[in-house]
Amino acid sequence: MALLEVDDLSVTFTRRGQRPVRAVDGVSFSVDAGEVVGLVGESGCGKSVTSLAIMGLLPRQPGLRIGGKAVFDGTDLLQLDDRSRRDIRGRDVAMVFQDPLSSLNPVIPIGLQVTEVLTRHRGMKGAEAGREAARLLDRVGIPDPKRRLKEYPHQLSGGMRQRALIAMAVACKPRLLIADEPTTALDVTIQAQILELLKELVRDSGTALVMITHDLGVVAGLCDTINVLYAGRVVETARRRPLFRQPRHPYTVGLLGSVPRLDAGRGERLNPIPGSVRDVLPWPDGCAFAPRCSRRVDECVGEPPEMVLTHDGRGYRCVNPAPLPGVTPAADVRATAPTAAEPGPVPAQAVPDDPPPAPGLGPAPHEEEQP
Ligand SMILES: Nc1ncnc2c1ncn2[C@@H]1O[C@H](COP(=O)(O)OP(=O)(O)O)[C@@H](O)[C@H]1O
Ligand code: SF4
Ligand SMILES: [Mg+2]
Repeated sequence: MALLEVDDLSVTFTRRGQRPVRAVDGVSFSVDAGEVVGLVGESGCGKSVTSLAIMGLLPRQPGLRIGGKAVFDGTDLLQLDDRSRRDIRGRDVAMVFQDPLSSLNPVIPIGLQVTEVLTRHRGMKGAEAGREAARLLDRVGIPDPKRRLKEYPHQLSGGMRQRALIAMAVACKPRLLIADEPTTALDVTIQAQILELLKELVRDSGTALVMITHDLGVVAGLCDTINVLYAGRVVETARRRPLFRQPRHPYTVGLLGSVPRLDAGRGERLNPIPGSVRDVLPWPDGCAFAPRCSRRVDECVGEPPEMVLTHDGRGYRCVNPAPLPGVTPAADVRATAPTAAEPGPVPAQAVPDDPPPAPGLGPAPHEEEQP
């Protein structure tokens, strides 16, 4: 069993007098120790709500309903009482938030906040903890770490606060780390350093990492498996390489088309996805992406498309997926639709292990070849 198994997670917000918002709608994914799993999608697709629900950190408000399971090492995190959840959160599971100010204590110097983590979780004391704290700040690219350790969060820039927070998360060597857009506010050089640090954490400590981002370029060099979210549902799931080389869901194709590429010809334009995330069809009425989709066909509306699973563990929620090379769209399997929970027969055009890149869709800029 995976270290974290998220199964059919759903989160609904209901405000009086308004229609319920189903921010997360049956999301399932799993993460093994030492694995990096990406959750990717445009703003508002439910990435943060997914992670906050798993961590038990959604603000308690009337009308909040959470369903499904998030089983960490045999324990369903969604069923824990506050105390057990706090224990697990400190010891085994850590999160880096998009907004560092909300996670740092404004009246305690950065150094004390980092050394406290080292004392509590790694048993370090005094000078040893101080040295390790300085080393960690240095590792996340904070200049003059000894001086910075004495400063308060408001004395650091936003980017530095984010890096201090990442240092704290790395300091406790958690078994599971959920990082929600951890590098979005940082410039590209620091971003690369942070991604390298996260890779090292996964490699050296066997940490399972859930990487949340709107930027496919970020996950390209880091994630083993990628889940693409749209309007609260996973619309495509695949290992990194097949996803970049041969995306099947038109939304994933669109996301890849909007990533700047180093090998793009002069004057070649990016291809943003038309419309905005607000142009959604409610899932019960059909595919939520239909209003923006260039591959839309009649079958796309009426019923929500089910997840189609292929033999190599890929899945896409689409009745007219982007074709594979050499397969005419007419031969493409449509709506054979086994459910995610009950994989049915493998569609005839199951994805080969290592398909050639789709025309016009090479690997994203930072993609590395896997052995
Ligand atoms: N506390 C809340 N009350 C009502 N709706 C919310 C709340 N938090 C998030 N949402 C809605 O849930 C959806 C998903 O939000 P979020 O997970 O933050 O998106 P992402 O992180 O992918 O940008 C959005 O439509 C957002 O407006
Ligand atoms: S189901 Fe239809 S509308 Fe939805 S992504 Fe596939 S082709 Fe496009
Ligand atoms: Mg978010």
